[in-house]
Amino acid sequence: MLPAKVKNLWRLLHCRRVMDFTSLTRKAYHSRLVLGIETSCDDTGAAVLDETGTILGESLYSQNEVHLRTGGIIPTVAQQLHRESIEVVVHEALERSGVTPSQLSAVATTVKPGLALSLGIGLAFSQKFVRKHNILFIPIHHMEAHALTIRMLQPVPFPFLVLLVSGGHSLLAVARGIDDFLLLGYMLDEAPGDTLDKVARRLSLTKHPDCSTLSGGQAIELLARSGDRRKFPFRTPMGRIYDCCFSFAGLRSQITMSIIKKEAEEGIEQGTLLSCVNDIAAGTQHTVAVHLAKRTHRAILFCKENGLLPSDNPILVVSGGVASNQYICKALTVITEKTGLRLLCPPPRFCTDNGVMIAWNGIERLKEGRGILSPSEDVCYEPKAPLGVDISAKVRAAGIRLPPVRMKILS
Ligand code: KG4
Ligand code: ZN
Repeated sequence: MLPAKVKNLWRLLHCRRVMDFTSLTRKAYHSRLVLGIETSCDDTGAAVLDETGTILGESLYSQNEVHLRTGGIIPTVAQQLHRESIEVVVHEALERSGVTPSQLSAVATTVKPGLALSLGIGLAFSQKFVRKHNILFIPIHHMEAHALTIRMLQPVPFPFLVLLVSGGHSLLAVARGIDDFLLLGYMLDEAPGDTLDKVARRLSLTKHPDCSTLSGGQAIELLARSGDRRKFPFRTPMGRIYDCCFSFAGLRSQITMSIIKKEAEEGIEQGTLLSCVNDIAAGTQHTVAVHLAKRTHRAILFCKENGLLPSDNPILVVSGGVASNQYICKALTVITEKTGLRLLCPPPRFCTDNGVMIAWNGIERLKEGRGILSPSEDVCYEPKAPLGVDISAKVRAAGIRLPPVRMKILS
């Protein structure tokens, strides 16, 4: 039996194509420091991690406030902001870590999925950087990075079930390995974070004194704490579709209709804060939480029926920006308690986009010698990129009906 380190080295040597591999592998073998770079949406993030997951240095520039002012992400604006900050952010992360480029084993960068113009900035910068310093390059799938972040914080063995919920995605998958996922369900129209952002914008929550700098999701969570969800009992989407996919567009229409009705009742124009924003926020958050919980419940039952999770200590991981929401996590806890799973969720700062999760994904790949490229290799970004093998048709065909669950969630 070869020791694990030698095996990894062997894999590293055989997965690369060109260049002077001897010096590169020596570096990879001894130091194993990875610089992670994230620019897939509206956060420019960079971080340096060692292979134990210790964060040596980090920097994050959020564009949130700019996009709040313009009423949503304008891709050309996001691109320009990434262009202006990427060098500073990477420099800051390196400086804080006390690591020089020549001490890095690899640079890991998000190349899919995401906004084309944003991805392009991170990729172009990274390719120039790895070529200049002769470092290995590891292209990263943004959703894979969200899924694996928890393993940086605590040991979580494969397989586990993962729910990823963000501004661009909603999916349920079984993680069987660092790059081996079975996709059980995905979003059919818009992502939950996008829905929360749009509802917050329609409610003009940036005009609310407590919410002016918060993302839509954060604003809804904050206001919902003092709202009464029963005043806006929205219908939970897809009640008669027995799969694990998600839909939020219809819910957003329901919410918009209620807002229009309330504006008429209160005699105010769009753009003015309604007196019942807290109640609308509470109704919105509750319905999003219940929809996510129900699809997750079905995914758990499907996994159990098909032996996809270990019978001993099965785990549900939830991550992505929307997983910062405590109410949503509590709704998921109702389901995991009923089904005997353990719910794990990274703290909010690792749920929302950051360079740390990308660096960690790079470490995981470096350790297993998977998807590691020479600096000279050309890589293209991919705005759309599904995660894993899609078995959602099998889930749908199983047509699993959910037993009734009382969604009593205390905020
Ligand atoms: O993962 P992320 O940082 O970026 C994407 O990959 O999309 O997620 C951003 C999304 C935004 O839509 C934001 O409104 C939402 O996450 N979000 C939240 C909360 N914090 C951020 N949604 C609900 N509750 C929160 N506390
Ligand atoms: Zn994300």
